[in-house]
Amino acid sequence: MKIVVLAGGLSPEREVSLTSGSLIANALMGRGHRVLLLDVYVGMRDLPVDIESLFRPDREYTHRVGETVPDLDALKRETGNGEALIGANVLKICAMADRVFLALHGAMGENGQLQATLDTHGIRYTGSGYAGSLLAMDKDISKRLFRLAGVPTPDWVEFDIAEGSVDELIARIGLPCVVKPLDCGSSVGVSIVDTRDALLLALAEAGKWGRRVLVEKKIEGRELTVGILDGIALPAVEIIPESGFYDYKNKYQGTTREVCPAEIDAETANRAAALSRLAFSALRLGGYARFDFMLDRDGGLWCLEANTLPGMTPTSLLPMAASAVGISYGELCERILNI
Ligand SMILES: Nc1ncnc2c1ncn2[C@@H]1O[C@H](COP(=O)(O)OP(=O)(O)O)[C@@H](O)[C@H]1O
Ligand SMILES: [Mg+2]
Repeated sequence: MKIVVLAGGLSPEREVSLTSGSLIANALMGRGHRVLLLDVYVGMRDLPVDIESLFRPDREYTHRVGETVPDLDALKRETGNGEALIGANVLKICAMADRVFLALHGAMGENGQLQATLDTHGIRYTGSGYAGSLLAMDKDISKRLFRLAGVPTPDWVEFDIAEGSVDELIARIGLPCVVKPLDCGSSVGVSIVDTRDALLLALAEAGKWGRRVLVEKKIEGRELTVGILDGIALPAVEIIPESGFYDYKNKYQGTTREVCPAEIDAETANRAAALSRLAFSALRLGGYARFDFMLDRDGGLWCLEANTLPGMTPTSLLPMAASAVGISYGELCERILNI
């Protein structure tokens, strides 16, 4: 197949995405495909006369995440692309591919915008469509749909930081509670708080990403994540941060232990699998996804959220779960491509 791996983008997570994208591209070339890794924001201004030659069977892509968060303003200046999220010739090149593999992280790849654009151009891509992506990106809407489908999710309030009453909020949800932006990922803006003062700070922090934030009952217990691949639930992975919760630092600085398959009894494992499949269809997802859960001390499972573009480096959670059932990284990329 001829494949474009789309990565990068105008997002603070562009570096992580370019790293996953490089590894996915290499893996797909290793399986005999002709591949081009393309930065969706930067695009490609100058095309070769023979555009087909862009799809190569044998290039080695490398990308290392820099020490600091990428300077998006500098990138805008260098490229001259401003606020246009799709760079020069991206759609033209994608239209030449048999399939586009989405290796993006962050807003545009996860909120359905890009999927809708690709749809209108008749371009086939991996993973969920635009509607599912949007439903999964908004944590409030996701949780409403989880409830309707019978997937337990912690009690929550959608709180307007400009107008809501903090005392009413505490009366409804209680302390401790978890504050999160409605539609971020990577634990950005997420805080777990025990006191009214800490809650006020957490609301201000989450409010940086939008006026409406989600305040959720804190579930004490263990954290699990379950991947779905082509309708099948992969074994649950338990996430054990060395300290605190699974925040940004614990996610990306290697201060977390991951146990796969999670050491849980068969009944809990089956329930986690069934709930993940239910959540997958409740949000109208496609292809693959990953669901985050808390397992409380009474054995109750609570679904926190869906990830439609879960991390895809070989050591990320979904590839780890796939490898526990004998699906290699290359095979996983291939399966995602062909669902
Ligand atoms: N209700 C909750 N109870 C306990 N911990 C939570 C709860 N909600 C979130 N967390 C912690 O915060 C992390 C990030 O929350 P999550 O809803 O998965 O958002 P993100 O999209 O940022 O990953 C989780 O992985 C978990 O460690
Ligand atoms: Mg999460």
